[in-house]
Amino acid sequence: MSELLKMLGCRYPIIQGPIGMFNSPRMVAAVSEAGAYGMLALGFIQDPDEVKKLIDEIRKLTDKPFGANLMLINPQNEKILKILAGAGVKAVTTSVGSPKEIYPVIHDLGIKGIHVVLALQHAIRAVTAGADALIVVGSEAGGLRSLNPESSTMVLVPLVSDYVKVPIVAAGGIADSRGYKTAFVLGAQGVQVGTRFLASLESPASEQWKKAIVECGDGSTTLIPALNMRVAERIIITPWVKQKMDDPEVKNIAAELDRNPAASGNYERASFGAGQVSALIRDIKPVKAIIEEMVS
Ligand SMILES: Cc1cc2nc3c(=O)[nH]c(=O)nc-3n(C[C@H](O)[C@H](O)[C@H](O)COP(=O)(O)O)c2cc1C
Repeated sequence: MSELLKMLGCRYPIIQGPIGMFNSPRMVAAVSEAGAYGMLALGFIQDPDEVKKLIDEIRKLTDKPFGANLMLINPQNEKILKILAGAGVKAVTTSVGSPKEIYPVIHDLGIKGIHVVLALQHAIRAVTAGADALIVVGSEAGGLRSLNPESSTMVLVPLVSDYVKVPIVAAGGIADSRGYKTAFVLGAQGVQVGTRFLASLESPASEQWKKAIVECGDGSTTLIPALNMRVAERIIITPWVKQKMDDPEVKNIAAELDRNPAASGNYERASFGAGQVSALIRDIKPVKAIIEEMVS
């Protein structure tokens, strides 16, 4: 058994990529029940009671292991970690921020921490700070990116594996058994999968969002500056986004995107976050079918 599988305690070395804007106990439980590692996305959650509630709901659906993602900019992380440890969570992932201060807290609670890195220098710093494993995310991935030039999964995973000894999880561009198998050849012990699970039957994403992923072709996503222009975010180029990209007057597309289209019922200006791998996703299926195909 690989070191990574020992940390996760699940059957397959597949981690559900956390999607910061929502949590679905049904989805986390479905991923864990299918043998992979279901993940709560706690990056934006400030209320520890909400974390307890989510865990209780998951535990009604599965007794299999699951984890959680913490964003290191969240001031509630220490309280949240205590709740996770009390609930028997064995491994968390950490992202968006410096790992230096939180890793001693994670280890004191008997938890393993897997830090998300987007570049070689982040990887080396994270291992020095005590990360037990790394999620190495290539530039094609969905989610937040840095504004610096970045390497793709195909380059970054073997590069990082040349420099660190801790287990590596490859992320970015993995949606099927081809990507899954390649990750091991590149030096990873497992994968983290975001966009493919976002377009699953159990995903809490809107039907419009899932449809937009399935309709993506080659070159259908782009990076736009986000969060006060300090980082970038990968989104689908919808007709509205395309119009804004072509308009030299528009300086900040992110500011005009509708982050909660469900409230208005109008999805024209919606922000559909997704990775380049959307081009390979042609249907919405249950997470169990996605995982079974991946490991086949
Ligand atoms: C809409 C969206 C939101 C995301 N939110 C988070 C998050 O809160 N924390 C995190 O560590 N990663 C986040 N990610 C990254 C994913 O967990 C995962 O690493 C990434 O999607 C992998 O690339 P893929 O989309 O090609 O599978 C997000 C990705 C997307 C598409």
